[in-house]
Amino acid sequence: MSSVRSTNATQGANISRQRRFWNERAASWDHGAQNNPGLVKVVERVIAEASPQTGMTVIDIGCGSGQLALRVAPLVERVIGIDISQAMIDLLLQNAAAANLTNIEGIAVPIEHLEIEEASVDLVISNYVLHHLRDKDKAVAVATAARWLKPGGRLVIGDMMFGRGTDARDREIISSKVALMIRKGPAGWWRIAKNASRYLFRIQERPVSIAAWVEMFRAAGLHEVVAIPVVNEASVVRGTRGARDQHIVAKGIPPTKR
Ligand SMILES: C[S@@+](CC[C@H](N)C(=O)[O-])C[C@H]1O[C@@H](n2cnc3c(N)ncnc32)[C@H](O)[C@@H]1O
Repeated sequence: MSSVRSTNATQGANISRQRRFWNERAASWDHGAQNNPGLVKVVERVIAEASPQTGMTVIDIGCGSGQLALRVAPLVERVIGIDISQAMIDLLLQNAAAANLTNIEGIAVPIEHLEIEEASVDLVISNYVLHHLRDKDKAVAVATAARWLKPGGRLVIGDMMFGRGTDARDREIISSKVALMIRKGPAGWWRIAKNASRYLFRIQERPVSIAAWVEMFRAAGLHEVVAIPVVNEASVVRGTRGARDQHIVAKGIPPTKR
């Protein structure tokens, strides 16, 4: 019983930290996201893998100010953006109004607390969000989102996906991030120190490997699980609810390492 209480306390602390962090950063994220070429590539790939269609109901987990939602809304019936940050939801709705999109709703709620009717949604998408969750909450979020899907519905997640430096791909990603920051001079060195503590202590950033994501999708009972590396640090994983009894996994995925 006490371990359940302490688990909930850690989850609650993470939710409060994320909400505070993203409420403060919402405006600068909204401003900068479209000018980040890597992020734009991942957004494009999530949309391509999601294949949004007329008549679909879509949930965008951690929608931010609408990087996926605003792109998908013109193609589908309804988009429900959920985000832990009320400031992000306010920006999402402002951006939707500015683009004359009337089929986007926004709900300020952490994914850990969201309840949606089983088999009621055609598509669940998410970009650069779930690495902020604790590892056990990532797995619960994937399993929960899989249950929201109608048979044949897709879950598509884009995110930074690498482990903690135990294989060559992880080490390559981590050293290229460090090299980029070194080139920025003293401001970059400060960021190395800050990011090192974030990654090492897994406070704000908690990425896990592509293989760990594939495993979570499979454990959630999703089929046709495919992982696509997109840019250096980021990949997209997609899976389908109950369409076919077969798993297809992209070549070259290393054995599971978190
Ligand atoms: C890096 S931003 C990405 C925003 C957007 N998806 C994009 O592609 O630009 C991360 C987003 O995740 C949201 N977030 C973080 N933790 C969350 C949680 N537990 N539940 C829901 N949203 C969360 C943040 O508020 C923020 O909007």
